[in-house]
Parts: sequence; structure tokens; C-alpha cells
Amino acid sequence: MGKRTIKTTISENTGEMKKENEAPAASVNIRPEDFNGYIGQEKVKEQVLTAVKSAIIRSAPVEHILFYGPPGLGKTTMAHIVANARKSNLKEVTGPMIEHPGEMAAILNSLQPGDVLFIDEIHRLDKKVEESLYSAMEDSKINVVIGQGEQCKSLTIDLPPITIIGATTRAGMLSAPLRDRFGLTCKMEYYSADELAHIGKITAGKLGVSIKDEEIYKIAEVSRGTPRVMNSNIKLIRDYVTANSIEDVTAEIVTSAMELYGIHDKGLTDIDIRILNTLAEAEKPVGLLTLSHVLGEDEGTIENVHEPYLLMNHYVEKTSRGRIITEKGKKIAYSLIA
Ligand SMILES: Nc1ncnc2c1ncn2[C@@H]1O[C@H](COP(=O)(O)OP(=O)(O)OP(=O)(O)O)[C@@H](O)[C@H]1O
Ligand SMILES: [Mg+2]
Repeated sequence: MGKRTIKTTISENTGEMKKENEAPAASVNIRPEDFNGYIGQEKVKEQVLTAVKSAIIRSAPVEHILFYGPPGLGKTTMAHIVANARKSNLKEVTGPMIEHPGEMAAILNSLQPGDVLFIDEIHRLDKKVEESLYSAMEDSKINVVIGQGEQCKSLTIDLPPITIIGATTRAGMLSAPLRDRFGLTCKMEYYSADELAHIGKITAGKLGVSIKDEEIYKIAEVSRGTPRVMNSNIKLIRDYVTANSIEDVTAEIVTSAMELYGIHDKGLTDIDIRILNTLAEAEKPVGLLTLSHVLGEDEGTIENVHEPYLLMNHYVEKTSRGRIITEKGKKIAYSLIA
């Protein structure tokens, strides 16, 4: 194929950059597709692999699996790996998307034997939809009510044998009957810096960014134990070096890129630091609602995105009267103000 010449022009007045003859590059899939490419999370990996192997030997669908843990730790990725390993199709829905038991029945009924239905944010399922899942998961049947008033009829539909994989960041919000119907429940843990560095190296390779191991490790240390953060930090570095025509990604380059994007020591972000400072100034327990008002941030975002990492690092503790900052939390907050 003939190589096309791409010319980049930058307008002197507006700084606007234009490329001629440019075709957008195909997007790169950075999600691992099999167990080998899935780094870390060894216990979960072994549990899931065992379930898949057993299912293959028994010529049966994989047990229903629930993945829970903070965002970005690999729940969706693992659900796809299960389906790939079992050579099944995967249908993906999110909890709030399904409004009526009838819709759930239609989705389940459209699946082929052995298929995987992946329900993300399963804690947000409507109560009636959730209840309709009980018999589907236990007896491969679903009851639907057709019509209204006196004409309404209850119908039992036999379903193909399938696997339901649920994912949630809020396991505590699942009802006990739903939780108990999963044959396997896996808690996703935060990743070590070594594991993140391994993931980052693979991602950098896929994106065609050349970064030395030492610099990758530095990025891993500010990636909050989370593969999604690691991957997005690698992409930020890619953008930084590409836009500034930098060839050698040195430690200084990583530091200035992280500074530009507001990523601080231990991977704390501006909002984490504001949470720590607010708690330090309060000198007493602070409730979630108050914190949300003071910071102008959504309660759910504080609780599900920012807080788990602060709690995991023992910067913050939750008490019955609210959140308090620990000595360790104060130390890091003060060091970052300076
Ligand atoms: N163990 C892993 N090895 C390699 N890459 C991973 C791993 N876990 C996650 N990733 C990468 O991190 C990104 C986020 O993972 P994923 O979408 O599976 O997280 P999640 O737990 O489903 O998050 P959420 O709760 O926000 O839905 C993916 O793009 C994937 O490439
Ligand atoms: Mg997900």
C-alpha cells in the first residue's frame, strides 16, 4: 500500500492545528481477552478459571458469578473473559436499563444455551425485575404476568440454561436472596504497583508509546491501585509526549505531565485533597451530605469513587457519626499543601 503524506499546519493567528490527508487511526483494544492477559487478582482468577473448567467438563453453563469491588478493577473485563473462555456469547445490560420483568424475560429467552448475560450495576435493578431473576437463576424458569386487571394471566417460561454474571460497586445494596443465588462471589482487590506496572507496560506497547520500566513504575505508584487509572495515565503521557514532540520519556517528563493533569503523590487527585483538607479543618466527624455540600460534588461520587481509596490507604475512617481524618491522612494532606 502506498504511504500517504500527512502535512500538519498550525495557524499563526489561532494556533489551530490541521492535518491534511489524514484518516483517523483505528482504536486499540486495551482490554485483555483471556486469563493470561488478565494481570493480578490471582485468587479471583483461580476461582473463575475453576468454574469455567468445571463447566466445560460438565458440558454445562458456568455457575452464576457476582463480581464486586470499586470501579475500574476489572469486573467487566473478567465477565468478557469468562464468555470467551467458555466460547459463549455475552449479552451486556445495566441494571437500570431493564424496567419491567417482561423485558428481563424477553432478554433471557433470546439467549442460546450456555450464553452469558452480564448485568452491570446489578444493585440498581428494579425490585420486581430483581425478583423475576430469582426463579430464572435457580430453576431456569421465569414467571411473567400478561395483560391487566381481570384479564391478566401468569405465564411460566422455561429458559435456556445460561450464566448470569452480575457486577456491582455496592455489594451491600444487593438483597440477600439475590446475593445467595450466585454460585460464586468474587471480591476484586486493589492492585499492587508491580501489577499495575505490568498492565501499564502491556498498554504502552499496544498504544505504541515507548516508556522505560522505571517511569512505568512511577506512573503505577500514582494509579490508585486501579488498572483503569493506570491505563488512562498511560494515555495522558502518550498525549503529552505526542503533542510536545517528546521522544524520551524521562522521570522529569512524567513528573511534569502528572503536574499538568493534577495527579499528586500516591495518586491523590485535587478532589481527594479537598476532601482531606475539609476533614482536617472540621476537627470532628463530617457527614457525607455536608461533605458533598462543602465540595460541591455528588454524594455518590464521593462515596463510590473517592472514598474507597482514601479508606483503603487509612487516610480517612468512617465512624457512625461521619468521616474523620487519620494522622496519616493529615500528614499527606499537609505535605501536599506545602
Ligand atoms: N487484571 C487486569 N489486567 C489487565 N487489564 C485490566 C485488568 N483489570 C482491568 N483492566 C483494564 O482496566 C480497564 C477497566 O476495567 P473494567 O472496565 O473491567 O473495570 P470494572 O471493574 O468493570 O469497572 P466499573 O465498576 O467502573 O464498571 C479495562 O479497560 C481493562 O483494560
Ligand atoms: Mg464495568
